[in-house]
Amino acid sequence: MASNRFPDVIVVGGGVVGCAIAYCLAREGVRADVVERGEIGGEASGAAAGMLAPLAEVEDAGPFRELCLESLRMFPALAATLREETGIDIEYLASGILRVALDDAEERRLRDLAACSTCLPAGRHGLPLHWLNPDDLRAFEPGLSPDVRGGLYSPEEHQVNADRLTQALARAAAIHGATLRRNLRISGLLMRNCRVTGVRTPDGDLAAGHVVLAAGPWTGKLAASLGVDLPVFPVRGQMLALPSRRAPRHILWGSAGYLVPKANGLVFAGATVERVGFRRRTTAAGLRGLAAMASTLAPRVGVFAPVDSWAGLRPGSADGLPLLGPLPGWEGVSVATGHYRNGILLSPVTGRLVARSIIGGPPDEALAPFSPARFSYSPSA
Ligand code: GLY
Repeated sequence: MASNRFPDVIVVGGGVVGCAIAYCLAREGVRADVVERGEIGGEASGAAAGMLAPLAEVEDAGPFRELCLESLRMFPALAATLREETGIDIEYLASGILRVALDDAEERRLRDLAACSTCLPAGRHGLPLHWLNPDDLRAFEPGLSPDVRGGLYSPEEHQVNADRLTQALARAAAIHGATLRRNLRISGLLMRNCRVTGVRTPDGDLAAGHVVLAAGPWTGKLAASLGVDLPVFPVRGQMLALPSRRAPRHILWGSAGYLVPKANGLVFAGATVERVGFRRRTTAAGLRGLAAMASTLAPRVGVFAPVDSWAGLRPGSADGLPLLGPLPGWEGVSVATGHYRNGILLSPVTGRLVARSIIGGPPDEALAPFSPARFSYSPSA
């Protein structure tokens, strides 16, 4: 049975990336359907701590950090627009990130980063960074470990509520005409010759002019059905929430993890980085490690028993970079995955660039380094 409403674009995956793409398409008047096998934001997007941390996550200068910085700059306007369009506050908080050194090696590393103008340019694309000595640091952020050797303060790396961001993007996409199809599993991709023409579902086939595969670590399985081997895999991140008493003022970032004071008063402690396949569950050892990290970084926070814990599966890729844009060898299909630890941060720029590449116009140079074509693969269908 074929649907009698044909979208221009089907976005497979209702995470933050899929919803951002659908939103950008719908704003341009493109009919977009989001097909999500569970709930919107039900996987990694809803599990994320919501940090917007391009410098903390990406220390090497280059196109990837530029992409992250560009996306960071989009958040103030996006937060305002989403609130206006949907009434949802994505809790864009100006927390700043304090990277804390607890030993000699980390102190040297952070001091080098602070001093290295080519690593962390202060130019048009750069962000300010300030080195703080232990005394200044303790005054700035009471409650840090007495063992601190100093820290690097980044006043412009902030945070959002990751689930609210995802829900707001989905709702805004719907307001602009997108259809959200929840709890609908894709059983296959429709194809003719070397063109993808839609998706197969238990409710019937959905034809579309273009299909975007934005299903996080599951994207590789969809691409495999086209005979394409995309090196995308799940990387589990376990998290726990600590009660609000004595929450830090800033996001705290140590070599073993981070503490994020959230708008609801809880402190999120994260995250493990584990290659354990598609097993999305917490483990006693993982949570113990996070609790120990919290106690080491900020003993006044870590002293409390956790009130919640969860895990998500990040989409990792073979070279640690996202895969964005057309799937070479095929017409009518694009990919948006591999965002690894930066899916929340990269969602605005991903939505904009992928939507533009589908709508047409001159190819955007910013996408080139992230083309799925950089991996060798063999289309066979
Ligand atoms: N963005 C932090 C993490 O993935 O753990």
